[in-house]
Amino acid sequence: MKLISANWKMNMTPSQTKEYLYNFLPLVEDVKDREILLCVPFTSLCIASEMLKDKHVKFGAQNVHYEPKGAFTGEISVSMLKDLGVSYVIVGHSERRWLFGESDEIINKKLIACLGSGIRPILCVGERQDEREAGLTFKVIETQVKLALSSLEDYTDMIDIAYEPIWAIGSGNPATPEDAQKVHRFIKELLESLNKNYKGTTRILYGGSVNTHNASEFMKMPDIDGLLVGGASLDPEAFSQIVKSF
Ligand code: PGA
Repeated sequence: MKLISANWKMNMTPSQTKEYLYNFLPLVEDVKDREILLCVPFTSLCIASEMLKDKHVKFGAQNVHYEPKGAFTGEISVSMLKDLGVSYVIVGHSERRWLFGESDEIINKKLIACLGSGIRPILCVGERQDEREAGLTFKVIETQVKLALSSLEDYTDMIDIAYEPIWAIGSGNPATPEDAQKVHRFIKELLESLNKNYKGTTRILYGGSVNTHNASEFMKMPDIDGLLVGGASLDPEAFSQIVKSF
């Protein structure tokens, strides 16, 4: 099933989350042929867990720590998320990589922690503008995917991947659907080469300046299996249009 996910980033208080869900749920009530996911801030997980109980809209987190518990002030473990009914977590978003110094090694540890718990990670990969201009896009993506999945090659069916070119995030300048398609195809072929038993259940999402006008163009591409939407997901009406755009 296609996966359309919101990434709210550091937006929305618990009260605003409540109001959002109150408005959003009726708009997507009948949309059951695709997965709808809201990746909310940690502080909104509780209210999302209450309001989405028995609903088809799922909720996820935007980050997680890789240790099961202990002296890690300010961090959140996989079991804490699990206990609230979280089904997905974004791992290795470029803002985590570049603003908070998350290395490929840390991202790999986070994926290992998620897979051990049954929470499905959405691994984010993407090249910078200068890397793109230097013709390094495929090399960068290959390195990021391989390092993130190190020792997890046999479990590639248990994750989803978001291709988010960094220059396209929040810039109003998305990749063209054709360029994104090429990278998505490349990632699928890479997964096939890493895992001989790969069943092809990993969805490759596109993210970076997706909005109500361009969503359907991305979803027409054969290897674009969903979207990860930042800014445009903060408005329930706009996000519902994106969810229903294909
Ligand atoms: P954007 O963010 O849709 O605001 O570009 C996407 C993301 O960072 O996941």
